[in-house]
Amino acid sequence: CMVRHYKFNVVLKNSTKLCSSKQIVTVNGKFPGPTIYAREDDTLLVKVVNHVKYNLSIHWHGIRQLRTGWADGPAYITQCPIQPGQQFVYNFTITGQRGTLWWHAHILWLRATVHGAIVILPKRGVPYPFPRPHKEKVLVLGEWWKSDVEAVINEALKSGLAPNVSDAHTINGQPGPVSGCTSQGGFTLPVGASKTYLLRIVNAALNEELFFKIAGHQLTVVEVDAVYTKPFKTGTVIIAPGQTTNVLLNADRKAGRYLVAATPFMDAPIAVDNKTATATLHYSGTLSSSRTILTALPPQNATSIATNFTSSLRSLNSKKYPARVPLKIDHSLLFTIGLGVNPCKTCVNGSRVVADINNVTFVMPNIALLQAHFFNISGVFTDDFPGKPPVPFNYTGTQPSNFATTQGTRLYRLAYNSTVQLVLQDTGMITPENHPIHLHGFNFFVVGKGLGNFHPNKDPKNFNLVDPVERNTIGVPSGGWTAIRFKADNPGVWFMHCHLEVHTTWGLKMAFVVDNGKGPNETLLPPPTDLPKC
Ligand code: C2O
Repeated sequence: CMVRHYKFNVVLKNSTKLCSSKQIVTVNGKFPGPTIYAREDDTLLVKVVNHVKYNLSIHWHGIRQLRTGWADGPAYITQCPIQPGQQFVYNFTITGQRGTLWWHAHILWLRATVHGAIVILPKRGVPYPFPRPHKEKVLVLGEWWKSDVEAVINEALKSGLAPNVSDAHTINGQPGPVSGCTSQGGFTLPVGASKTYLLRIVNAALNEELFFKIAGHQLTVVEVDAVYTKPFKTGTVIIAPGQTTNVLLNADRKAGRYLVAATPFMDAPIAVDNKTATATLHYSGTLSSSRTILTALPPQNATSIATNFTSSLRSLNSKKYPARVPLKIDHSLLFTIGLGVNPCKTCVNGSRVVADINNVTFVMPNIALLQAHFFNISGVFTDDFPGKPPVPFNYTGTQPSNFATTQGTRLYRLAYNSTVQLVLQDTGMITPENHPIHLHGFNFFVVGKGLGNFHPNKDPKNFNLVDPVERNTIGVPSGGWTAIRFKADNPGVWFMHCHLEVHTTWGLKMAFVVDNGKGPNETLLPPPTDLPKC
């Protein structure tokens, strides 16, 4: 294994899309940002230099950061932000992980343009557990606003109303052809006939779960969130913000140009419009002028397509890559997640939309929680986060007429190596919605899911404890629940939140604090000397 050095200069860059120009925050002037390449067990040193006027921090989404929580990145959770003119070196080792992950800014909405892929190859000499592809290609799906993204969220926070939705989606930074914008043709993926390609797909969109399709081609899913899966074929991939999916594409059709589309799950249009990002799969030897072969897109809210896809995901669970599902549970938790409304004197309607977990709207502290934990600074957080909802939740019963939430910087404390079963229950209090929940510092096993109320006596009997998919971000179905299990083998403070940025902003977040173990390799390492100060 080796040490790899990267330099991230965070700079403004002029960008033209949808026939309008604006300045965006980028890493090294690129959108999407540079791909990081590494191998399992390598150490990464990424020097981030902040040349813009915003505070920022970078998160390495899905990297476990074993004992190196200081390098995890969420602002005010594991570090104070890197201030304008300052720099910080993220120093971490990739332990026991290989596949596709990604990095992104982790403060307000900067991640709209500050993100990129992380490609972790297996150790030298170790093959993939699937046929070796001819070539590999990273596809980063994004979301684009014509206006300034930081202004969009700040305006929404002031008014208490929902922020504006984006103007387009993108595939590797390009929305695809837009009527009237002749210069914008969209991203092209060149392929050779009969060759197999590994596509590493990242959903870096802020607020939209996406369907991904290639006209005329089946895709074989082989990995999600940097964990191998049992291979399965699908025509459509569904991918939530935060998630990554590796698929094999066999270029086995007759030569031509085929449409590649990424289209929103919630408001998917029937025809290709400007909310659908399009690209082109281009067989070698085909004229660029030849007509693109189109595909039907999944209809609006095509829940059955989404459910079929997620139900097909299984851990590989081979001898070499066993699924180590915790069987004995120390903490059995039930978290309701959803939206609420709190009074707000200065807001447009006298109220603001908030989001909560177990009725707690998370309040961001002024110094990083990990520092407060490590240095025993009191008054920053409490460790009394409720392990179950304050009033038993029941979909079919009478709903409380009052949607107001409580506020606090409350954490849930876990002993080192204790095991957790967490049931995430969507309340649908204002509206049912699919929430992609992301846990930092761990992978978890998705042992069960269902619609309506979770039944603690009945539902666990149907849990898959043999080969459940293992990942770091999971969609909790709209009007339903998802059960996950993990082992708290990573000391530190670990953020958990909805990866729809609008919901995170509203407070759909909390954190676990995991204590040190007793062994020599079971403690959080001390902070790096250049860790930013608040
Ligand atoms: Cu990719 Cu805390 O997020």
